[in-house]
Amino acid sequence: MTSARSLGLVCSAAGGLEDVHDQLVEPFVAAGWTVAVTVTPTARRWLAALGEDDRIERTTGYPVRSAPRMPGETSPHPEIDCYAVVPATANTVAKIALGIADNQALTSVCEAIGAGTVPIVVFPRVNAAHARQPAWQGHLDLLRSAGVHLIYGDDVWPLHEPRSAPGRPLPWGAIRDAIQAAVGPF
Ligand SMILES: Cc1cc2nc3c(=O)[nH]c(=O)nc-3n(C[C@H](O)[C@H](O)[C@H](O)COP(=O)(O)O)c2cc1C
Repeated sequence: MTSARSLGLVCSAAGGLEDVHDQLVEPFVAAGWTVAVTVTPTARRWLAALGEDDRIERTTGYPVRSAPRMPGETSPHPEIDCYAVVPATANTVAKIALGIADNQALTSVCEAIGAGTVPIVVFPRVNAAHARQPAWQGHLDLLRSAGVHLIYGDDVWPLHEPRSAPGRPLPWGAIRDAIQAAVGPF
């Protein structure tokens, strides 16, 4: 990987969360990127149960954020050049599309979409039932029209029925490549 920048990695409570440190945080830090991780409240509980929040903090040097700062406090995270929402639950994708910012992870991404100054990559870690929810396609269309880079489709993540493909690894190589491509050369 080249073009070291700062990555705002946003994680929600879906499969693959347990591999985020080894598959995203560590490779990008090793390539010289600054990485700052923000997670949803549910993802925070999952990470803490695994001890992965401590590992991420040791590798990045930044706290894993899940709670909003108090008025008057400064952000504990650096300026971000690219946001990546990985894994993104169906719930988090829907909320981002609707502009709902009721946790710190959503606040960061919703504001970044509105500001329009940095690329945003989203990997919806969803199944075929999520995709048949009637509002789903509209959420994807809206995010694409806002310039969000979606890692989505049969070529990267064929959708499976619920509980029919447990433990399937996320397409980590495609996710890393999409983040790198979104930032581009500098
Ligand atoms: C073991 C387990 C695995 C889950 N995997 C997924 C998943 O892969 N994709 C998804 O959209 N939701 C998944 N969910 C459901 C989400 O965790 C749930 O909708 C949660 O409210 C999402 O919250 P968040 O988007 O704020 O992180 C899973 C739930 C459990 C208990």
